[in-house]
Amino acid sequence: MEHAAAAEFRPFFGGVSEGVECMADFGEEIIHLRNVYKIFGDQPRGRALELAKAGVNKNEVQARTNHVVGLTDVNFSVREGEIFVVMGLSGSGKSTAIRTVNKLHDVTDGEVIVEGEDVQKMTGATLQAFRRQKMGMVFQHFALFPHRSVVENVSYGLEVQGVARSERFDAAIRALGLVGLESYANSYPDELSGGMQQRVGLARALASDPDILLMDEAFSALDPLIRRQMQDEMMAIQNDLKKTILFITHDLNEALRIGDRVCIMKDGAVVQIGTPEEILTKPATGYVAEFVQDVDQGRVIQVHEIMVTPDPVSQTATLSEGLQHVGDRAGAFVLDAAGAPAGVLTTGDAIRASGMGSNRLEDGLRTDFAVCKPTDTLNEVYAAAGRGIPIAVVDDDGRLVGNLDPRHIMEEMGRVESLIDDFEREVFM
Ligand SMILES: Nc1ncnc2c1ncn2[C@@H]1O[C@H](COP(=O)(O)OP(=O)(O)OP(=O)(O)O)[C@@H](O)[C@H]1O
Ligand SMILES: [Mg+2]
Repeated sequence: MEHAAAAEFRPFFGGVSEGVECMADFGEEIIHLRNVYKIFGDQPRGRALELAKAGVNKNEVQARTNHVVGLTDVNFSVREGEIFVVMGLSGSGKSTAIRTVNKLHDVTDGEVIVEGEDVQKMTGATLQAFRRQKMGMVFQHFALFPHRSVVENVSYGLEVQGVARSERFDAAIRALGLVGLESYANSYPDELSGGMQQRVGLARALASDPDILLMDEAFSALDPLIRRQMQDEMMAIQNDLKKTILFITHDLNEALRIGDRVCIMKDGAVVQIGTPEEILTKPATGYVAEFVQDVDQGRVIQVHEIMVTPDPVSQTATLSEGLQHVGDRAGAFVLDAAGAPAGVLTTGDAIRASGMGSNRLEDGLRTDFAVCKPTDTLNEVYAAAGRGIPIAVVDDDGRLVGNLDPRHIMEEMGRVESLIDDFEREVFM
């Protein structure tokens, strides 16, 4: 068995693709949880399951049966190459969910399918090989072996698989390179900071080149700055290696930052699954909305979501025609022959120029407007919006594709807050 595993080992740089692919370009779904229930207690398949299946909530089931609902009717699928984040408060079932994927937990009911295989049916050597070769795991408080050097720790999984020493050390050094710790290969864990130790944990998971990474609160113990760094590094690594990552966190900011999609859990149930943008702009329930209110939305919402069609002023218009054309907008652009914004007319400038006795459009135009891309985030354009002049949204060829009104940015930032207010009104009044 050990030898079969060793023969299948492939060093992970073999699969690295050149160039940056579009992040939205994910493969097929390779992890499925289907109607998964997990009940903790003496008789998990008894009355507690029956109640959970009838839709009775976690607290109620616990009160009536003294059984704990870990998961109730959980459904989600993870696509190859995506970072799928499960987010929820303590006790919401995140760890329970991730543990069903490698069968650290049996499920009480439902199905877990990974790469076409029914995980629940795996046993013994098959299960062991599946865990070792397909999955890498990183936990919040994972332990490094204190008496092993860093490189020995990182290569441990391969050692267990029977990979020869030089080969597994090569792989471990490469994995350490990915997390920026090559030069610490011969150090011992107690010589490293907490953040560095967590990096070693990530390297250990990467060393055996698994298709799937399971990360349970992997960065939660780190202080915010180091944590952001780790998130960045992980995303960079992901860009290269295209692993499928199931990432667990109780921090919505982290979830929205790194997740291609985010699954929000509460009391063992899935509340919403969506892209960070969807979670922010269309929270499915008041519960999600409440989470969302603490989040810095500007980081996630992109310009194209709130820009409006340009409707430019004709180059041949007079100043008074231009003023009329602007209407109640913050301003309108004038285009050059190539369709690029050449100037912007705001109501204030038009009135000022006509006050000076002019009716020539060019006397009211200003050219010191800001320019951005449709995919820029609101945070990136926020400072420019402070000037109160419309921002020109241009495509890669510099052509005007949208008009971004500074007022719309402010409105958008306030929108989720009002959603929450509405929700509270509905519930409490
Ligand atoms: N082995 C167990 N025996 C009994 N109950 C358990 C067991 N493991 C988890 N639970 C219960 O299942 C529920 C979900 O726990 P889980 O550990 O999945 O939560 P979590 O979302 O990972 O929380 P945290 O953020 O604190 O890690 C909780 O109510 C917990 O008490
Ligand atoms: Mg947990």
